[in-house]
Amino acid sequence: MNDLSALPDGFVWGAATAAYQIEGSVDADGRAPSIWDTFSHTPGRVAGGDTGDTACDHYRRWPEDLELMRRLGLDAYRFSIAWPRVVPQADGWVNAPGLDFYDRLVDRLLEAGITPFPTLYHWDLPQAQQDRGGWPERSTALRFGEYAAVVAERLGDRVTNWATLNEPLCSAWIGHLDGAMAPGRQDLTAAVRASYHLHLGHGLAVEALRAHVPGAQIGIVNNLSTIEPAGDHPDDLAAARRADGHINRWWLDPVLGRGYPRDMLDLYGVELPVHEGDMELISAPLDWLGLNYYFRQIVADDPTGPVPHFRQLPGPGPEHTAMPWEVHAPGIEELLLRLTKEYGVPKLYVTENGAAYRDTVAADGSVHDPERTAYLEQHLAACAAAVAQGAPLAGYFAWSLLDNFEWAYGYDKRFGLVHVDYGTQRRTVKTSGHRYAELIRAHRAR
Ligand code: IFM
Repeated sequence: MNDLSALPDGFVWGAATAAYQIEGSVDADGRAPSIWDTFSHTPGRVAGGDTGDTACDHYRRWPEDLELMRRLGLDAYRFSIAWPRVVPQADGWVNAPGLDFYDRLVDRLLEAGITPFPTLYHWDLPQAQQDRGGWPERSTALRFGEYAAVVAERLGDRVTNWATLNEPLCSAWIGHLDGAMAPGRQDLTAAVRASYHLHLGHGLAVEALRAHVPGAQIGIVNNLSTIEPAGDHPDDLAAARRADGHINRWWLDPVLGRGYPRDMLDLYGVELPVHEGDMELISAPLDWLGLNYYFRQIVADDPTGPVPHFRQLPGPGPEHTAMPWEVHAPGIEELLLRLTKEYGVPKLYVTENGAAYRDTVAADGSVHDPERTAYLEQHLAACAAAVAQGAPLAGYFAWSLLDNFEWAYGYDKRFGLVHVDYGTQRRTVKTSGHRYAELIRAHRAR
């Protein structure tokens, strides 16, 4: 049970966060608003009216958080760089104090023996760029490439591992089609154009990183799901194929050199704004691919619903997190093997995996979270099973280091290995965090 022995020597044990979810200090040192500042300050958009204004106050408390990482024994820390701190406006002006923050963080991580894994974009598009049309417009991809060059030039002498985008599916589909995330649009054409320009921005960022960072190890992070049809009716089977296209293939195929899936292009019926040379940029070779895994999707045909005409049914398993997402560890194994066998990905990281539960602080100050502990152990064991079958998995990043601002769900959903009391900003390592540290130690000592 929960056999991790197949995880290779040198396996990277990490934890992940994202800028808007933890930093706070939204107007410090020249940062300008992002689309998430606008969205969270729009009444009705985020549960409880929560915003990222203060979040975990990590912008000021980062030394304390780094000490927590050291105590957990992490090999690596995946964080995101806030574009609105570095290039706050649409005119390309570089805000030096914004870059300085990440410069200091990187130096201190390296001093502590923790490898930095920055992500260039985790959803916080500068509002000024949104005001010029945002991701549906080509100019946003071009500006993203320029921003990537600025960051690469500054940090590239010390940072080797880079991710371009985090979960572009959420930026495009949830931000522009469902409307449940910033910028909150519901427009298929805008969503498809956004997806294309996110990919183009990724390609331009890869180009910038290769130019400025000798030996860079570059990847992109996708949230993928295993898809199962609700039944064996041909309509549900076809819905599952569409769901796979919408959730998985659209995000993998172009980046991995297969072009956009024909069936999905036909279904969306939106012409992609392709310029000569774009597809070569989009499919430039990568060093690794990041998998964010949370749940499988059981889908049924929904002919009268919006494109892509499927709806997700609740997962049938007995356990659900507070989201409430079904706990289904075999899904991570299946996806790692699919990326290995079907797509031939040479190196993989699980860049996020974790669970929200209703944690409480006991009278003695401890936070006991047996469900999250079991979740981590089961999913790590499923990763090890994939490795035993040939998956080139090089590391795992728990989501998240800290409880934080869970986007449209606000602060109610806690994913951290470390509990955050938002009133006092007190951090408490949960039982799951202690267990994670123990697993890391055991792996190193074997
Ligand atoms: O909190 C998010 C993160 O920002 C992106 N991946 C999923 C997590 C949990 O919803």
